[in-house]
Amino acid sequence: MLHLNICKAETVEEAARLAADHFQELLCTKPACVLGLATGSTPIPLYRELIAREQAGRIDFSRVRSVNLDEYKGLAPDHPQSYRRFMQENLFDHISIRPENTYVPDGLATDVDAMCSAYERTIEDLGGVDLQLLGLGHDGHIGFNEPGDHFPTRTHETALAEITRQANARFFASEAEVPTAAYTMGVGTVMAARRILMIVTGADKSDILHKAFFGPVTPWVPASILQFHPDVTLICDRAAWDGVKSGYGFLRFFARFLAMLYIMEIYDIFFFDWFLLCRSNFFPHFYPELKGVVGPHMFGYNKKQHIAHFILYIPACAAIAL
Ligand code: GLP
Repeated sequence: MLHLNICKAETVEEAARLAADHFQELLCTKPACVLGLATGSTPIPLYRELIAREQAGRIDFSRVRSVNLDEYKGLAPDHPQSYRRFMQENLFDHISIRPENTYVPDGLATDVDAMCSAYERTIEDLGGVDLQLLGLGHDGHIGFNEPGDHFPTRTHETALAEITRQANARFFASEAEVPTAAYTMGVGTVMAARRILMIVTGADKSDILHKAFFGPVTPWVPASILQFHPDVTLICDRAAWDGVKSGYGFLRFFARFLAMLYIMEIYDIFFFDWFLLCRSNFFPHFYPELKGVVGPHMFGYNKKQHIAHFILYIPACAAIAL
């Protein structure tokens, strides 16, 4: 991991304020910045906070450009569940950003390849994303990059995983109405952003949060690639973070610790004593007390010596397990 800045908030509202501070700092230093924006329930409190801050005169969106992560395939911009509509209702309609400076993939694209390459070109022409906001899907997706055997690089069409459709069904009349496909920035597009800000809230995200930032980097957990990004800030509320520390994290440590202990013990029995035996045969003068030790006696320690070894392993095993 190159750089992960973890900010722990007590509540969802505090998480939103912390995230808004990052936006405010960027908007003050670079008023014409490019924001990568996200949808879902997670960023809604942040968007409310940003609206309030602009109304209070603390920030100004008039020169900002924005590119959104994704859009459902087949939904028109004014469809109640489209991500374009989500952005209008939850942010754009309430701030001074110019409509022509907001970009969301076109859900109705007929030439998908052309739309996807044009979206990538737009991001490039804007000068790249300064700050990319991300939520985290229950299966580890970012944008709509679902788990799979590779990391999709650029903007593309993707099939939605069943777990994602189920999770997003709450916004639709029924699960059957949730589109089966979407257009999304690729993992490579996301990784190209200069800074990344991920917000994770709620106890139901603890497990996947742990896998994403403390597990192996794998396309089966797309967000895990963020471990390779040089500037990631993770903001989580207590509910999400507590599960990471006390639940799975501790169990993982304990399992690793036991595994190490057993490996050391097996190493000791099968190798150390075996070497001792060999040396006693090859250099009998140096090891007179071992001469002729065979069979069960080759495990030549008494009980106390074995316990002493075992105790010596504990700090070494704990260090490796951590
Ligand atoms: C959605 C979006 C993602 C979002 C994620 C989490 O499907 N495509 O960009 O981060 O799922 O959503 P939520 O914040 O509602 O849990």
